[in-house]
Order: sequence, then C-alpha cells, then structure tokens
Amino acid sequence: MTTRQSVMLLVVLVLSLPGLFHSFKPLFYSKSITHREITRIAVLRKTAEVCRDTAASKGLDFNLIIDNNLSAGKVQKACLSTDTSTIMFEAAIRTIYLSNAAVDLLFLLSAAHHFDDETFKEGRDIITKGLSVVKGHTKLGNFFGGRLSLGKICHTLQDFYSHSNWVELGNKAPYSALIRPDQPLENLAGRNIPTCRSCVGKNCTNNILPDVLNRGLLTSGYFRILFSAKPAGKCSHGGFFDRTSRKDPVGGISKDTLDSSHGLSHFEAADLAIRATMELLEDIRLAAGGKNFMRLMGLSQSPVLCFVIDTTGSMSDDIDEAKRVSFEIIDRKRGTGQEPSGYILVPFNDPDFGPLKMTADPDIFKRQINSLTASGGGDAPEMALSGLQLALTAAPPFSEIFLFTDAPAKDAYLRNTIVALTESTKSEVTFMLTSIAAGRRRRRTSQGLAPRAMSQFDFQLYRDLAQSSGGQAIQVTKSELSLATGVIVDSSASAVVTVLQAAGNPGRSSNFAFAVDGSLRNIKAYITGDSPLTFTLTSSTGVSQTSSQSSGPLASFTTAGNMRRLSFNTDNQTGLWQISVSSNNPYLVKVTGQSSVNFIYNLVEEHEGAHGDFSLKEGRPLSGGNASILVTVTGSDTVKVTDITLFDNSGPTEVKGSLQSLGRSDFLVTFTGIPAGEFVLILKGEDTSSNSKSTSSSFQRQGSTQLKTSSISVTAQANNTNIEPGNTISIPFTVTTTTDGVINDSVTKTFTMLVSNDRNYASTSPSSVAILAGSGGKANGTVTLTAPSSAPPGTDVTLTIEAKSATATDINYVVLRFSVTAKVTDVTRPVCQVVSTSTCDSSSLLCASSHWKFIANFTDGINGTGIESLTISQGNGTLNMSTVVGAGGDNITLVTYTASCCSQIVEVIAVDSVGNVGTCVGQARVLTTPLPATTSAVQATSSEWNTFLWLSVVFSVLCK
Ligand SMILES: *[C@@H]1O[C@H](CO)[C@@H](O)[C@H](O)[C@H]1NC(C)=O
Ligand SMILES: *[C@@H]1O[C@H](CO)[C@@H](O)[C@H](O)[C@H]1NC(C)=O
Ligand SMILES: *[C@@H]1O[C@H](CO)[C@@H](O)[C@H](O)[C@H]1NC(C)=O
Ligand SMILES: *[C@@H]1O[C@H](CO)[C@@H](O)[C@H](O)[C@H]1NC(C)=O
Repeated sequence: MTTRQSVMLLVVLVLSLPGLFHSFKPLFYSKSITHREITRIAVLRKTAEVCRDTAASKGLDFNLIIDNNLSAGKVQKACLSTDTSTIMFEAAIRTIYLSNAAVDLLFLLSAAHHFDDETFKEGRDIITKGLSVVKGHTKLGNFFGGRLSLGKICHTLQDFYSHSNWVELGNKAPYSALIRPDQPLENLAGRNIPTCRSCVGKNCTNNILPDVLNRGLLTSGYFRILFSAKPAGKCSHGGFFDRTSRKDPVGGISKDTLDSSHGLSHFEAADLAIRATMELLEDIRLAAGGKNFMRLMGLSQSPVLCFVIDTTGSMSDDIDEAKRVSFEIIDRKRGTGQEPSGYILVPFNDPDFGPLKMTADPDIFKRQINSLTASGGGDAPEMALSGLQLALTAAPPFSEIFLFTDAPAKDAYLRNTIVALTESTKSEVTFMLTSIAAGRRRRRTSQGLAPRAMSQFDFQLYRDLAQSSGGQAIQVTKSELSLATGVIVDSSASAVVTVLQAAGNPGRSSNFAFAVDGSLRNIKAYITGDSPLTFTLTSSTGVSQTSSQSSGPLASFTTAGNMRRLSFNTDNQTGLWQISVSSNNPYLVKVTGQSSVNFIYNLVEEHEGAHGDFSLKEGRPLSGGNASILVTVTGSDTVKVTDITLFDNSGPTEVKGSLQSLGRSDFLVTFTGIPAGEFVLILKGEDTSSNSKSTSSSFQRQGSTQLKTSSISVTAQANNTNIEPGNTISIPFTVTTTTDGVINDSVTKTFTMLVSNDRNYASTSPSSVAILAGSGGKANGTVTLTAPSSAPPGTDVTLTIEAKSATATDINYVVLRFSVTAKVTDVTRPVCQVVSTSTCDSSSLLCASSHWKFIANFTDGINGTGIESLTISQGNGTLNMSTVVGAGGDNITLVTYTASCCSQIVEVIAVDSVGNVGTCVGQARVLTTPLPATTSAVQATSSEWNTFLWLSVVFSVLCK
C-alpha cells in the first residue's frame, strides 16, 4: 500500500468511528462548555467591550454588564442604540463557530491543530499564520473569509487550554505568547522529560509529575486513535479513543468535558479559552481598527447594497436609474446608523465581466457607479451569470443582489452553479429586466441603441434563478424602471423578513395564507407575473380588496411591468391574512415586513456516535434521506417556536421537523425521509409581544431560498484550506448515487462534472466521471486549483464541484473555500520609544486651559514591512506625524501628540503592513495638594472635583 492509500484508509476508518472528536465538544454537549459557546461568549464580550470603549471615548453612557450571559440582541442594542434584527450578527457568529467545529473534521489527525503531542511551536505557528490571514482578509474587506479563518484559529487556541497543563500549572491568565510569534515559548518540557504517572484507577487528579508542576514545565497530552505508542513517561490526552492513554502512564489530562480525565478543571480551562479568544480578538481589533472589527463581527443592522449591471450600449438609461436609486438610499441613510454595511458593484458585458468592486465607503461606491458607462455591444447575449457569480461569492450571506440587464445570458451553463451558490449563501437575486414598450419598438434609448430582444425562454432562466433564491424577476420597460426600483429601497431597510414566498401554478386560482404578527412593520406584498392576473387580499377580520382597487381599505398598490407592489395600510391587524391569485401565467407571491424576529439556518451533517456532533454541510440533502438543520431565532425574547417544516408548494408536500432545543434560541431540527422536491423552510410560533395586549398572536417566517433534494452525493475534502500564491492544491472527490439516502452500489452511471471558482484561478478537473460495475457505487476524481503568484494574501476563493446526471435533471455539489496566504516574514511589532513629555500647568484650576505634549518614535525595524497606520485608541487630543530615516536606514515615524490636561492618557496604536500591532501609552499621574481657599466658590461637591482641583501633575510614560 502506498502512503497515500494508507492515509486514505486511515481517514475512512477514522471518519467511520463514532465520537472521535477530541476537543472541547464542537457544537453541543450536555452541560459541558463547547467550542460553540466559548467562541460565542468571547465574540459577544469582546464586541461589547469595544462598544463600551467607543462610548467612553465619546463621553456616552454604556449600561451593559459584560459577562457570560450576553446575547447578540443585548450587545447589538447597546452598541448600535437601536433595537433591530440581529440576523447579520448571529450569522457572523455562526460562521465563526461552524468553521471552528470544522477543524475537528478537516484536521482530525493533525496534532498541531489541537496542541496534542507537545506540538507547541507548530500549534502556535498555525495560530499566528492564521491570524495574519484574518488580518489580510479584514484589510481587503473579505469579512466572510475572515470569519472562516478566525474560526479555525480559535479552535486551536481554545484547545490549548484543554489539552495542555497550563491550567494545572496554576496559571490564571491566557498564554499570550500563543498569539505573538515574536515571543519565545518558554519552559517547554521537551521530548525526553517524563511528565505523567499513571492515574489511580479512574482518578487522574494527581497524575502530572510533581517535578513538572514545581518547575513550571509546559506539556500536553499525546493522542492516537490507531496506535498506543508515545514517548516514555508522557501524559496522554485520555478518553476512550485515545489508545496512548491505555499505555503506561495510564490515563489522561484533557479537560474537554466534565467527564474527561481532568474534567474537574473543565470550567477553568473553558474560562481561560474564552479570555484567550478575547485577547486574540483584541489583537485583530487593534490591527483592523474598531470599525472594520465591527464589520468582521457582523455587527451591522443593514444589508449590503449589491448591484450587478450590464454595461452594454443600450443600458445607459438603466445605469442612470441604478445610480439614482443607490444615491437616494445612500443620501437618505447617511449617518442614521442604517447605512448599508457595504457596497458591491459588478459590471458585465460580453466577453468581459467584473472586476468586482467592494467598499464600505459610500463615497467610493458613488464614484465607482458614476464611472460606469454603457458602451459597445449589439445583439449579443451578455455574461450576466458570470458577473452574478462574482457578486454571490463576495456578498455576505443573506444579501439581496440586484441584477440589471436587457439581454439574455450568454453563460447559461452557469445556471446550476448560481443555484448552488444561492443555496449555500442564502442570498436572494432580483432581476431588473428592461425592454422597450410594445408598440414603441422603434424608440431608441438616449444612446441611440435599440435594446435587445429577450424571448420567453431567455426570461425563464432569470425567473427560475429568482424563484430558487427567493428573489423576483421584474420585467419592465425602460421608461417604467424607476417605478420598479422601489423594491431596492424596500430591501435596503433594516430587518426585512420574509413572511411568505411562493410560486403559483398557472391556470388555477391559488390561495396563500400568511400570519401577521404584532412585531411586523411596513408590510409589503409583491405579486410578479404577466398580465392578465387578478388577485384579492383578505385581512384577518375578513375585509377584502381586489386588484381593481389600487388604493383600498387594506393596501395601496402600484404596478411596474409585471410586478404589483402592495403597501399595507396598517401594521397592527394581526391574524391570518390571505392572498388569492388567478392567472394563466406563472407568478410569484412574496410578503415581507420589518421585524426583529427572524431566523438563520444551516444544513448540518451528523457524525454518529455516543458523543456525536454536527458539522456544516454545503450541498443538497439526499432525496428520501434525512436532514438536520441548525436554526437560530433572532429577536426571540417574546416568541415561542412551535413548528419548523419543509414545504413544497407544487405538491403540496409538507415535512415536519422534530425540534431539539440547544439552549438560548438555537434549535436542531431533524427531518426524516424527505421526498424528492423543492422545499422552503417555514418557521411558525406564537408571538407574545402583540399589540393586542392580552392575547398572543401567531407568527410565521420563511427562509426564502429553496432547498432542493438530490439523489447524487458529492463529497470532497481538501487537506488544507490555505493556498500560497503560485501553488497548486489537489482536491480528491467522490460521486455516488443514492436511494433513500444511502449509497446504491449496484448503479453504474456517468456524471458530467462542472468545476468553477469565483476568482477565475486556473483549475483542472475531469469533465466527467463514471461509476463502473464493481466500484461499490463510487466514482472518484481529482480537482486542482492554482493560485496565481500575484494573488494578494487575504483573498478568499470559493470552489464549487458539481456533478450532473446525464439527463441534467439532477445535480448536487460541494463547496470548498480557501484563503490565499503568504509566508509571513515580518513577525515583529512596531516598537515605540518615548522622546519627551511636557507637563501640565499644575496651578490651573480648569484642566481645559492647559495642554500637554507627548513625543515618541515608532519604527518597524530595518526588516519590517513598515508602519502603515497610526491611530489614537485612547485620548482625544491631536496627533501629528512625520517620517525620517534613522541611523540604521530604517524609517522612523515621529509622533507628536497634544491634548488638554482633561485628557491625561494617550494610547497610540501602530500597525505595520502585515498587521503586527505596537502600542505606546503616555499617562499623566495626578498628585494631590491642598485646595486653595479661594476655590470654595466653585459649585460642586468636593468629591466630584477632587480629581481636577487637587491638581499637580507628574507624567509617567509607559511603553509596551
Ligand atoms: C482522587 O485522588 C485524590 C488524591 O490523589 C483524592 O484527594 C480524591 O478524593 C480522589 N477522588 C476520587 C473521586 O476518588
Ligand atoms: C393600530 O394603529 C393605529 C395607529 O397606527 C392606532 O390608531 C390603532 O388604534 C391601532 N389599532 C390597534 C387594534 O391596536
Ligand atoms: C495534502 O496533500 C498533498 C497531496 O495531495 C500533500 O502533498 C500534502 O503534504 C498534504 N498536506 C497536509 C498538510 O497533509
Ligand atoms: C474512490 O475513493 C475511495 C476513497 O476515497 C475508495 O474507497 C474507492 O475505492 C475509490 N473508488 C474507485 C473506483 O477508485
């Protein structure tokens, strides 16, 4: 057997063994603290601290107790001073902890990823390299990639406290050297020093050798699943699957759960893991700045504004309208705290598309959209889906993307890839499709170019993509476009939730019922479909309004092309409403509102076993098989969830999930035997915050993305999620056919493979794979991906491997994400040297009238990447800087800080090009001298004024 084969065998064997995780449990575990909880608590606490410091620097109150009981809702409310949906924040935390949990799957056998086997140096390398990747992602605005990379290093960092003897050595603070590559790792036990003795029966209380504890030597447990070998006298991890723990010295030292060998120290280890994670987050905050840190944490209440725009000649009117509506949104929301959290713009025509432009700065976006010009083209279809693909991969999950075009898609072959992307990101795509009015075909656009014709067939592609993502396909004439862009304004509001989204069956009248609850505001309904189409809206009290009344008792509506947009007159008529529609054409009905009550969900995959756990699954669930979905309800203080179902309107078919509460507002929902179909996830429950005081009202929310099943299973696993510029990685994959969710090994079949990545990186793949007789129902292949040598570190790349049946009726896919990382050569932090500090006038009674000055030098050293930013993190004076070349040839940044004596501390943060952070603190110490009698006239109690009046100042300067 080759090494590769034996590794494969090992992996297969290992993956089929039950309960293998050997860390803090990844996601769920009775009363023990999991990686999920540790990560969640650390993110909430650190975010709250940053908000507290920001509030303090602005002299604002901050009344939130920062402890382990914070919720995303409480933190967001305290930080943003508004009470809106926490969906983005929850989704960001979810991404971080699912990525954290994935380390146990991807790197199960890598000791360094878990600090097993005394791999302190290697484990620290993983953390510090990963940390620079997180900083790179954040700097480039790739927050999603940043969260994935952050989750991974959190796992390794947190494992240190469970797997090493740091806690047993009596340490009460995190080990900072683990996130600082420039610090030595001291007092490592080393390979030849025995560290443990056997436990007494099951009692491992005293198994670490007294000599190790006395000398303060750092060690960690050995862990092997298949072999029992370990160096003589070494501690083991412990537990059923660790074979080394059965060899002398018997037993282990892990603190993963309360039942672990050192379970008595479980809570202490978990607490240190939380604080270490916070320390890591603080380092990222200093490097990224407060604002970008908040974006990385997803603390933003508004979605991104994302436009994908056809720039062919005939599109100039559409581009003007896209400008107008985006400027309107930007100008109306600027400074309100409801500004879009980011802006994404992707132009496309033929044969070009992109580049994608992403910014958090509204003025940069304005400039970018202003510089779009419509030119060239003719009748050719355009690269619409390629442009959309870029946007879908860059936009955060749960975004709404607007695509403007007047032409068919030339790249319709990307259809399944786009569907797969909307399924995995849960982003909605709404198409703004323009044409000239019928009967006015000769009219030309302002550029003198005729729009191109789009057939029903072309239009169907856009409609299918809209429907499967939960968006709309709006078809209007160029002159009507400004009526339709109201949907963009609607969706840019904060906390928009989907109450109902359904496709209607042409040719028959359909009724759609939906519950309006007390938390819903600004309810809107959209009915998109060709005329003739009639509808009737009926309220919970039985009042009706038909489509012949554009303004009636229940709503007012406008028509733009094939879309009818209804604005409800009142928010507070709770109960069951109904829309019935009659049309001979296909149509979509969608009801939205604004509410803090919403939910996020992810498909997860169960790993069998006594201590089994779940990991993120991207790809479709298997027809006839089971599926598990992790659901978090946001704004749920007043709601009780009763049902979570999968619903297929075409049957209609309903599959009820069984709910398992995971504490807070998290649920694991299990569906068994899901028939083949296209489903949406519907959540129902009771809302007790209803306006109608004593009674509670029913509420419903719907996931807008369709969830389709497949009988194809595609699996792939990369052994590394980082890729260096210029390097190629290989990713083996396996395709199987399933019946009722299990592999059907008697089938022989050929599948077409379609492999794509969002950066257009070079990639190879077989164009098809075949399941041959006697192959156990499996077909294998390998995909390669090469990062260009010019790829900037911090770029993320998403690879989709898709298998399609010969008839193209069934597809499934797997999504893999990689980060571009470069070797980090600069690990030293910018260094600060204080030059001088002046003193305040000690006789002054009013601090505001005297000033002090602080001068310091910063350098990143001769081999450093250079100081890129200097900011004040504490103090409200002014900072001036200039650069000189030092004696050694290095650049020295001379910093002069001036502030009033009311602000007596300054902290200056220097960040180099790769995100190493250096800080410099100057502090005024106040000495107290007796109060002169003449000041007694001041109207204030002496205790309030003590700090100001007893003023005699000595400065002490601290530099770290
Ligand atoms: C384990 O052993 C220690 C002494 O080594 C003893 O103090 C402790 O009570 C024992 N615990 C149990 C559960 O027997
Ligand atoms: C509904 O809201 C309106 C104002 O928006 C108010 O006048 C009315 O009393 C409310 N009705 C109920 C039933 O709460
Ligand atoms: C990943 O696999 C490749 C071959 O496919 C191998 O060369 C490389 O060493 C592996 N990396 C790790 C970290 O296992
Ligand atoms: C495909 O790979 C799997 C392991 O990933 C192996 O068990 C199987 O035998 C391979 N099948 C073929 C046909 O090569």
